Amino acid sequence: MHNPIPVTNDIYWIGVNDHETDLFEAQWPLPEGVSYNSYLIRAGKTALIDTVKKTHLTQYVEKVRRLAEGGRKVDYLIINHMEPDHSGSVPVLKQLFPEMNIVGNKKTLDLVKEFYGITTDTTTIADGDVLDLGGHTLRFVLTPMVHWPETMMTFDETSRVLFSGDAFGSFKTLDGGLFDDEINIARYDDEILRYFSNIVGKYSLMVQKAMARLQGIDIKVVASTHGPVWKKAPSYILDKYDLWSRYMAEPGVVVAYASMYGSTLEMAEAVSRGLSLAGIREIRMHDVARTHPSYIIRDAWRYKGVILGSCTYEMGLFPAMRNLVELLDEKGLKNRSLGIFGSFGWTGGAVKNLKSFAEKSAWSLVEPVVEVKCAPDEHQLDECIALGKNMAGALSV
Ligand SMILES: Cc1cc2nc3c(=O)[nH]c(=O)nc-3n(C[C@H](O)[C@H](O)[C@H](O)COP(=O)(O)O)c2cc1C
Ligand SMILES: [Fe+2]
Ligand SMILES: [Fe+2]
Repeated sequence: MHNPIPVTNDIYWIGVNDHETDLFEAQWPLPEGVSYNSYLIRAGKTALIDTVKKTHLTQYVEKVRRLAEGGRKVDYLIINHMEPDHSGSVPVLKQLFPEMNIVGNKKTLDLVKEFYGITTDTTTIADGDVLDLGGHTLRFVLTPMVHWPETMMTFDETSRVLFSGDAFGSFKTLDGGLFDDEINIARYDDEILRYFSNIVGKYSLMVQKAMARLQGIDIKVVASTHGPVWKKAPSYILDKYDLWSRYMAEPGVVVAYASMYGSTLEMAEAVSRGLSLAGIREIRMHDVARTHPSYIIRDAWRYKGVILGSCTYEMGLFPAMRNLVELLDEKGLKNRSLGIFGSFGWTGGAVKNLKSFAEKSAWSLVEPVVEVKCAPDEHQLDECIALGKNMAGALSV
């Protein structure tokens, strides 16, 4: 989308779509790309809100030039977030628009100095401060750790647009439609949650604090740094982030398994059969060796039940399962019902490690824990079915 798109009076979306980057932050697959959203406010003064990743600088600068007075004058750059997917264009932009004053909080400006060596023509703002652009008044809301320490939001009190930084964002490019009423939201839902759970979810407590700060503010538009702009019904995305950051879940179960020769897979299938027999209709099975953990984390965030099964590999968990368990621990997801099972050939190790995760996570453990040697027999498969049924029971209470 090469043209600036008006968001409301005087405010334009000047973001870019990234179809080329395979891995966001060098680790999260982007099969449907991602957008970096930047905005320009053309009031008495011209202000930019965030920039874009430096890979997309050329297209970005073209858009700024189109809107900036005489193609050259930008008065302010407001930096809500310094992660380079948004700040990467700052140094070149500063060269192109030398009079541009960089606005951020103390922590922002420290990072501006450390990343880009820029120390002059900056304005330090504090929580609640306002900046009068002439016709538009901006208020700054500091929201630390949603996603970095310097993160803040900028609220345009005149048009009631909230520039929210990474909060309320999504993976997936903007394919023609920018606003929530121009897209099929269902096509974005999975990527909204995969983005939330993997990028922002760890900071759920800080998301809750930020949402408390936003209480009582009449927000008409939510304009994040990634994904759609929420204009028709901003409550859609606000409510989702509120629920997810309180670890609320939908009824359903994710079954993630690791299996080299099929024994653990057989157990996983029996567990899932048990779930189905007990009435569970949302069952997501993932082979951890073949599905990137970001998708499994997404489903764990969505569903109340999480069942993990692993074969033993070199005295411990199968590596991809170890990675998943470490990530789940790191993301700090709470309030889930957990089922565990696994297999071994001689001394074992997989189930022992899953039990450690059960203790560490404090998720409620659903019995039985099923552990088999080499291959499950009929009785052990029945136990797996019982695990599935008991999980269904745990979800219905
Ligand atoms: C490469 C490899 C390494 C293994 N390492 C161990 C081990 O350290 N300890 C153990 O008890 N079993 C070990 N096993 C045995 C498997 O855990 C056991 O056969 C299990 O039932 C395999 O389940 P699967 O059919 O789901 O892959 C290993 C198997 C393989 C193929
Ligand atoms: Fe970020
Ligand atoms: Fe970002």
